[in-house]
Amino acid sequence: MYELRYGWIVVLLSVFFIPLLSCAKESEKIDLPSPRMEGGRPLMEVLKDRRTMRSFSNKELSLQELSNLLWAAFGINRPEEGKRTAPSAMNKQETDIYVAKKDGLYLYDANNNSLIKILGEDIRGATGGQDFVKDAPVNLVYVADYLKMGDSSKESKDFYSAANTGYISQNVYLYCASEGLATVVRGWVDREKLHEAMKLKGSQKIILAQTVGYPGE
Ligand SMILES: Cc1cc2nc3c(=O)[nH]c(=O)nc-3n(C[C@H](O)[C@H](O)[C@H](O)COP(=O)(O)O)c2cc1C
Repeated sequence: MYELRYGWIVVLLSVFFIPLLSCAKESEKIDLPSPRMEGGRPLMEVLKDRRTMRSFSNKELSLQELSNLLWAAFGINRPEEGKRTAPSAMNKQETDIYVAKKDGLYLYDANNNSLIKILGEDIRGATGGQDFVKDAPVNLVYVADYLKMGDSSKESKDFYSAANTGYISQNVYLYCASEGLATVVRGWVDREKLHEAMKLKGSQKIILAQTVGYPGE
């Protein structure tokens, strides 16, 4: 008799809670639209316009713009080899791009062209020491995972992770110049505080941050 009653409880729990759990899981990931790999302005014109800007409007970037931006930054451009739009020393691909937006912190998953939700809180203010960071729509945080770099020396990991991040950041500069967006790469970051706010692992090292948005007034 008791077994029968518990059986019904299990059935009821499965009917009501399993769909709820799967919804919660789905909402933790945003599938990005396919990046648009055609178009853009001629390279020499873009280089002429590349610059740092530090004034941003609050206007959000669309998912299409985010997809294009992240693909330009460090997306996969040769799927057969899994290689990327920026070079990477010994092809270690240790750099992850985190995206701090008003609605939370996301990790760019280049393989699945999606954003994985890491935190549901707004940590934009923790991504840098300058005033504009807390209100700009997108702050990218470049994080190297030293575990992915094998057993080379710390000096070599520091050097290559910094160099590799530079290429990614320049891709973002060029994409922004092409699309009329504003951007600034930033070394002025309280890395300890941000590491904690992002709940990163000990092997992960914050290299630089970069703000992106529409130009402000
Ligand atoms: C590694 C690196 C770190 C930087 N850090 C900051 C920063 O923390 N804050 C900032 O406003 N600009 C920062 N900049 C932007 C430089 O100030 C800017 O590139 C320089 O003034 C030249 O201007 P341009 O990019 O328009 O040519 C950084 C640039 C680089 C390459």
